[in-house]
Amino acid sequence: MEGAGVRLRRAFPHGNELNFDPFLLLDDFGSDNPADYLAGFPWHPHRGIETVTYILRGAVEHGDSIGNSGTIGDGDVQWMTAGSGIIHQEMPVRTEGRTRGFQLWVNLPAANKMMAPRYRDVRAKTIPLVKAGRGVEIRLISGNAGGVAGPVQDLVVDIDYMDISLEPGSSWKRDFPPGRNSFIYVISGMAGITGVEGDSGPETLVSLGSSQLLDVRTGPSGARFLLASGAPLHEPVAWGGPIVMNTQEELDLAFGELDKGTFIREPGPGKGAWTGGKPRFYRD
Ligand code: CO
Repeated sequence: MEGAGVRLRRAFPHGNELNFDPFLLLDDFGSDNPADYLAGFPWHPHRGIETVTYILRGAVEHGDSIGNSGTIGDGDVQWMTAGSGIIHQEMPVRTEGRTRGFQLWVNLPAANKMMAPRYRDVRAKTIPLVKAGRGVEIRLISGNAGGVAGPVQDLVVDIDYMDISLEPGSSWKRDFPPGRNSFIYVISGMAGITGVEGDSGPETLVSLGSSQLLDVRTGPSGARFLLASGAPLHEPVAWGGPIVMNTQEELDLAFGELDKGTFIREPGPGKGAWTGGKPRFYRD
């Protein structure tokens, strides 16, 4: 349970034994029962990280302290860089049938943790669908594939993030530069991955570590999976709920500012829906 009562699957959490640096967390949310998601994530802060929300099906209404508000829906991505601080809400909308989406947290390096917050609304129609060989289609959110660049550019932490569909009986290979950490997360179907015993089914997280080659093939069911890859930051992590800094002192400062109402440094154009008051559940 996360937020105000949203049932989700946390593919990897805080304090996991595997090293996913620069990634901090991956949540897989969605249900065919609106009671599992309607409570949503009311006003809460973030600092020191980016949250990347990808909706496969359904809709989430959002608003934030720098003046953004709207609804993201099927195939859309919200790339939110909290930097020095943002207060936002993410409220799933009642949808017929099964909803599904993912939130990935990307850590920010010490030099950028207090940058001005920014928000990018990446609509599904701007996400290229790249044909990468027979039976392979890539929805390219960031990074490069098949000679195409994803729509999210000018990243602080340069990550590749893509949604890959393999038809039954197809295969795909990808090389990674040395020193990056990569993982895949299976959305549906069954994927055979070189170096991994057996086939990997839905909701399976496969850490590729700093491996430089991903070699995937599918049997009769095909497969769809997320791939994320990035260079590790190699910095100390001080994690307090929605705030991730480098030291305990920086966390104490952030929570002290939340208590005093001085957390937000960049109030933005002022048309945001947040009207002040203390945000909720801001500690683990
Ligand atoms: Co949030």
